[in-house]
Amino acid sequence: MITSTPINPSDLRLVITGGARGIGGAVARELAGLGARVLITDVLPAEGTALADSLGSGVRYADLDVTDPAAWQRVLDEAQTFLGGVNALFNNAGVVLWGSTTGTELADFRRTIDINLYGVFLGMHTTAPLIKAAGGGVIVNVSSTAGLQGYAGITAYVASKWAVRGMTKAAALDLAADNIRVMSLHPGPIRTPMTAGLGDETAAAQPIGRFGEVDEVARMVRFMMLEATYSTGSEFIVDGGAVTGQVLPLPES
Ligand SMILES: NC(=O)c1ccc[n+]([C@@H]2O[C@H](COP(=O)([O-])OP(=O)(O)OC[C@H]3O[C@@H](n4cnc5c(N)ncnc54)[C@H](O)[C@@H]3O)[C@@H](O)[C@H]2O)c1
Repeated sequence: MITSTPINPSDLRLVITGGARGIGGAVARELAGLGARVLITDVLPAEGTALADSLGSGVRYADLDVTDPAAWQRVLDEAQTFLGGVNALFNNAGVVLWGSTTGTELADFRRTIDINLYGVFLGMHTTAPLIKAAGGGVIVNVSSTAGLQGYAGITAYVASKWAVRGMTKAAALDLAADNIRVMSLHPGPIRTPMTAGLGDETAAAQPIGRFGEVDEVARMVRFMMLEATYSTGSEFIVDGGAVTGQVLPLPES
């Protein structure tokens, strides 16, 4: 059964994938700032170590390519020791490799699915037993507005993010009896290195008229992890209205 008690931030024992920068980095800052112990993982040791060092002795960095099952086992062993158990996973590592349905390189399609979907699966597969052993906890899988609608020019990315959204619901049902909530996060365009190539026209096309900031996403993740005690399998959207609808020109009268 899922308990109704909010998690105290200082009780959080959190593993973050892709946490050296961007949204993952902001979540590390937000939750470590509230007293959580955090293991930041990524494939960017210089950035990850610098971030962890800046957040104090309760935060550490470890290398983790999310597509590597052996690396997951190694890192979770370290997490168990350093954090004193694991009760939360921010399954965030991801890539966007541009390509339309006919224009996508086959290797890029496979790589996208490998990191964005298989990596998220491996995270749940390896971490959920530890969270269960800790008495329960929470998993947040990072999907996207691209997991709620289509976008031209990023076929593999859209496929991976819809799959994460669906897999989240299956996992939520599997893990509810272990007191583990599993939710998907759906950011719209957020200012990070991933969106560095997108310009002002993308911002102008959003109902809110701007990119989101990583801290705005991190505050949503804080709520999901600590307070959303009656939510599992659910979609949490932080997108400036991107999936709300389109603003169409009105007919001339
Ligand atoms: N920025 C946005 O607009 C946006 C919108 C919706 C969803 N997202 C999702 O948010 C997540 C974080 O993206 P971001 O915007 O912070 O981008 P980012 O590029 O700053 O962060 C992604 C992180 O994942 C890491 N990573 C890549 N491949 C990896 C691998 N094989 N193993 C481990 N780590 C790996 C990168 O090193 C990087 O630190 C991604 O899943 C992305 O798809 C981002």
